[in-house]
Parts: sequence; structure tokens; C-alpha cells
Amino acid sequence: MTGSNKEDLAGKGEIKNTRLSRRTIFKMGLVTGVAVPMSALGQPPARMRPQPGDQLVFEEGPNQDALVRPELLSLEQRPVSAMARDPSTGVLRDGSRLNRVMITRINTEKMSQRYQSNAADGVIAYSAVCTHTGCDVINWDEGRLRMACPCHESQFDIYDGGKVVGGPAPRPLAMLPLELVEGIVTVAAEFRGRVGFTQQF
Ligand code: FES
Repeated sequence: MTGSNKEDLAGKGEIKNTRLSRRTIFKMGLVTGVAVPMSALGQPPARMRPQPGDQLVFEEGPNQDALVRPELLSLEQRPVSAMARDPSTGVLRDGSRLNRVMITRINTEKMSQRYQSNAADGVIAYSAVCTHTGCDVINWDEGRLRMACPCHESQFDIYDGGKVVGGPAPRPLAMLPLELVEGIVTVAAEFRGRVGFTQQF
């Protein structure tokens, strides 16, 4: 993990009480290494987590920088990274690696029912940050349709809400609910589940 990655993760903590001082939040973030919804603290738009109404943009691959549309993804293809962009301001939320998602397209009918509504015409998005110690989950088990972490081999089931199906990760990947708006894959709600990791001592 790079120094800047550590900074991203260190400054985060799951905190609901917005009356906590920034100093306190920083200390807590060092311990937990978990994402904080900090918009209430005047967080710059580029660092804010994906917001409802944001559009997804490809971060890599042949469609890099293009808006995500379902037809640009193949069924059960290797997940690719994407970021959210506020269509009203054009701000790309690339100020934190905790905002990165991995997207692919699935057969919605095969998905666990409770997660089906998070898909936009089959397109699904999971946080790219492993819940173990925060590496990017960039590997792909094509045979078993699992996202995999290169650091300690945790595996996550894309058809079951990012459930851990192997390795030391303690909890599922956070899922970003999506919807289709005028053909564009759009954020429907904030992340379901915690983004980031809990420091292992
Ligand atoms: S950081 Fe992903 S398995 Fe350890």
C-alpha cells in the first residue's frame, strides 16, 4: 500500500457524531482505518463518497473516461474500476481511493434476491478496497466468478453481495446501489456496508 493510500485510510473512521473534533476523528481513524462520512465536516466534493445522482465513469480499459452504460460491459466480465462523477458540477470523486468501485455485469436473476435492486440493468459495483487490510481487490477468478485480493487471497462472491468466500477478510465488500437513468449507470444510494478495513492487531 502506498503512503498516500495509508493517508486515505488513516483519516477515516465510521463516525456519526459530527460534533467530534477533527483531532478526535483523526485519532480514531488511525485506530480503525475505516471510512468516515465526512461531508458534514466540509469535505471537498472530490473526496466525498459517491452520492445519489452521481454518474459512473470508467477509470480504466478501452472505455476509460466514458460514462458507464450497460452495453459497454460484457456479461460476467472481469471487473474494471470506475469512479463517480457529479453531473451537475463535473467533479470526479477521485480524491480518495475509498471512492473507487469495481464494476461488472451480471445475470440479475442469478443474484441473491436481497441484492438484485442494487443492480442497474445487470451492472453492479463493489468497493475496490479489501476489508482485510485495505489492498485493492483487483484479481478475478473467472471460473468461480469471484473477486479476489492479491495481498492475502481473500475472495468475494459477486452474486451474493460481496460475501467473503475465502481468505482472512472479516466482512463483505461494500456494495454501491445503482440505477439506470437515461441509459447511464447512476448511483442510487450511498454504499451499503462499511468502506475500508478494520486494523488487525
Ligand atoms: S488485504 Fe485483502 S486479503 Fe488481506
